[in-house]
Amino acid sequence: MSVAIKSQREIELMREAGKILFEVHEELARMIKPGITTWDIDNRGRKLIEGYGCTPSFLNYNGYPASICVSVNEEVVHGIPSRKHILKEGDIVSLDAGVIYKGYHSDAARTYGVGKISDAAQKLINVTKQCFFEGIKFAKEGSHLHEISAAIGAYAESFGYGVVRDLVGHGVGSALHEDPQVPNFKQETRGMRLKAGMTLAIEPMINAGRYNVKWLDDDWTVVTTDGSLSAHYENTVLITDGEPEILSLR
Ligand code: MF3
Ligand code: CO
Repeated sequence: MSVAIKSQREIELMREAGKILFEVHEELARMIKPGITTWDIDNRGRKLIEGYGCTPSFLNYNGYPASICVSVNEEVVHGIPSRKHILKEGDIVSLDAGVIYKGYHSDAARTYGVGKISDAAQKLINVTKQCFFEGIKFAKEGSHLHEISAAIGAYAESFGYGVVRDLVGHGVGSALHEDPQVPNFKQETRGMRLKAGMTLAIEPMINAGRYNVKWLDDDWTVVTTDGSLSAHYENTVLITDGEPEILSLR
């Protein structure tokens, strides 16, 4: 496994890609309300990304047909936007987006409530976000990769949640998916030693019920097997010799 150490120039481009993606998510967050369709979110997302002179990372990636992955309720990730899918009060919706700026990707996801949601759904969203922050406590030079994984998994499991195992975070840079894989649960090995200049997409995917997932017949949409709600939170992170730099957050 070879993990790229980004140059100063590459880091600058990824900072810009991250900043733009943060703004795209901020804009998309404002449109989440009952009555809009998942297609509306994708359409606005693509226009925003292109408005920044960027390319959506996901559009046509391995044949994925949209710019924003929109996953509702028991959908974990990679939901396909549809004009027929209308968001309703009480839903939770995960938006996963990536942008390419001058050849460099950023990748980030957020989960929102639609209108008023249950306390249980809000707790799942909050804990999933906190899982990311628990994980990045170990995202620094000299730590081992799987310390991030273990911290995310332990935090989620302390609430009785299921940590998705079949999908993982990843290195990110001139490709959307680079080495290493970043699992969200405890591993048998401690994993590689992290070095300054590595860039990782750390992305807990957490189910209110069991960890098991399956793929729908569209070959993209991943759903929980038990039908429980699922949340996703992701940022593109730069490893440094001190605190990590979260490129897709302000
Ligand atoms: N954000 C997703 C990931 O980290 C990428 C979506 S894959 C796509 O793996 F095909 F839908 F683009
Ligand atoms: Co990702």
